[in-house]
Amino acid sequence: MNVGLIGSGNMARAMARGWGRPVLCADPVASRAQALAEETGGEALASNAEVARRADLVVLCHKPAQLAAVAAEVAPHAKAVASILAATPLAALREAYPGKPVYRFIPSLPVEVRQGAVVQGAAPGGDGQDSDTDRAVSELFAELGSLVVLDDALVDVAMGLMSCAPAYVALVAEAQVDAGVRRGIPAAQGAELVVQTLAGTAELLRRRGNDTMAIRREVASPGGLTARGLDALERGGIRAAFSDALDAVLEKR
Ligand SMILES: NC(=O)c1ccc[n+]([C@@H]2O[C@H](COP(=O)([O-])OP(=O)(O)OC[C@H]3O[C@@H](n4cnc5c(N)ncnc54)[C@H](OP(=O)(O)O)[C@@H]3O)[C@@H](O)[C@H]2O)c1
Repeated sequence: MNVGLIGSGNMARAMARGWGRPVLCADPVASRAQALAEETGGEALASNAEVARRADLVVLCHKPAQLAAVAAEVAPHAKAVASILAATPLAALREAYPGKPVYRFIPSLPVEVRQGAVVQGAAPGGDGQDSDTDRAVSELFAELGSLVVLDDALVDVAMGLMSCAPAYVALVAEAQVDAGVRRGIPAAQGAELVVQTLAGTAELLRRRGNDTMAIRREVASPGGLTARGLDALERGGIRAAFSDALDAVLEKR
């Protein structure tokens, strides 16, 4: 499947690196598209319309506010359209691309290393959808990590969990490293310990069927040190902080 990226910014680059194949791309900053094309062995094109003409699947990687302007250039030529735009439901995409097969995904930055969580929105009533294209597009995005299909109404909520989360996890890691610095561990060594622990814990959780409680029980023996640390985190409001973060993401502005 020949993929064409409309916009060549951070997420376009992360996905292209994850796919590891040549892409067609365009961007208002020509040098940005050129750099991405060179990196993937693909081609930077002079306009969004040209990308749409040449690609089997156009992937919308611009900002949500540009939906209508981009659709005016792309819709007449696109064979199929996949969007990664935040807060842009399938209904809005179908309105912008009438009669075309339209798909909605939300990726996360670790797609760059094929370890991303990717959410696909599902809603009845798409025009021009056919099952071969559906399957090929889903498989393409599944290459980037774990693909989870959700009702389209839940995609923005999911975005608050997985698409924003690389920033949250980076902040949590930084906070731990700084705590170690306060007690004398040099930042570089602290970061090595913390980041490896994150990666290893993620792998263990996966092998334990995502059973977070099982991991906590294995590490925290009754009356032990970890139990005291967990209690401090709870009293520090860690659950409320993550809950508030999700509310903040979903808050209408
Ligand atoms: N970053 C994430 O973690 C993440 C996660 C999930 C979803 N998303 C979604 O992914 C999309 C891109 O996000 P991003 O973080 O990659 O943003 P970004 O780095 O700003 O990339 C967007 C790119 O689109 C370009 N662009 C602007 N107008 C355009 C047009 N008319 N035609 C083609 N390209 C145009 C921008 O150029 P200029 O800078 O010159 O405007 C920029 O290079 C957004 O819709 C966002 O909601 C992002």
